[in-house]
Amino acid sequence: MPDPTLDRYAVIGNPIEQSKSPFIHTAFAQAIGQSIDYTKLLAPLGGFAAVVDAFRANGGRGMNVTAPFKLDAFAYATDLAPSAQMAGAVNAMKFEGDKVYAENFDGVGLVRDLVHNLKCPLQGRRVLILGAGGATRGALLPLLAEQPSELVIVNRTVVKAQELAALAQQHSAVQVPVLGLGYDAVQGAFDVVLNASSSSLRAELPPLSADVFAPGCLAYDLTYGKGLTPFLQLAQQADVTRLADGVGMLAEQAAEAFAWWRGVRPDTTAVIAQLTVPLA
Ligand code: ATR
Repeated sequence: MPDPTLDRYAVIGNPIEQSKSPFIHTAFAQAIGQSIDYTKLLAPLGGFAAVVDAFRANGGRGMNVTAPFKLDAFAYATDLAPSAQMAGAVNAMKFEGDKVYAENFDGVGLVRDLVHNLKCPLQGRRVLILGAGGATRGALLPLLAEQPSELVIVNRTVVKAQELAALAQQHSAVQVPVLGLGYDAVQGAFDVVLNASSSSLRAELPPLSADVFAPGCLAYDLTYGKGLTPFLQLAQQADVTRLADGVGMLAEQAAEAFAWWRGVRPDTTAVIAQLTVPLA
């Protein structure tokens, strides 16, 4: 039974058992001397709204949203932040009366991990991002705000990369060249190579040339807990020594949501250390 005196939060998904969010948010709260009740909610496919309605009726204050419900949350929200509008998806909600405020902190979490945790500034650097699905879409504006010299989106289905490049140019406040290309059209080497495709979820190798890795570059896989994915192995075989997965992004997007809900931004160092799976 939840403690009725505590503010209630949850993560909703299907499946949900694997979610680290309860661990992360409970650790954040403890570290700053707060107590919250944070649970996992399994919603049936097609049953998102009913489960969220019931959670709100029971006093729920906010939710994280994971697969496959980020589009359902987008439709459910009454007030979409620009980050959610640009991503076309929602990963955090805050409930206030009839209002459902919605955000997407994945992109800002990624950039915070790159720049702050991994000490990899993006300004003036060539950045390559693999994939043209939801993960890439959510990352585009936060990446461009760092003012790389160029951002290249590469995808098997070229038209999707071109569409995202056009969308990014249209909405970005900064003038950075953004290109959408197929894998065989990528030219030159990049300082930061981000795998935002879903290839690592199925242990597949994107059709990427090892020539894309510049000396000293960072290769970053947005998935987490999968060790050396085929993408990271390709980078390692190309003598890239700076390899990272998305554990820091996971912790940083959670910290953004926590700060939005609770008014205090927690430090992520301990959570990242506890969730890190060695890249081997
Ligand atoms: P997500 O929301 O995780 O981004 P998505 O919207 O389904 O998931 O998009 C998946 C992305 O991963 C797509 O860009 C897909 O490429 P295509 O559009 O060409 O299908 C990409 N992807 C999936 N498997 C891949 C693989 N083995 N190699 C390269 N790209 C892959």
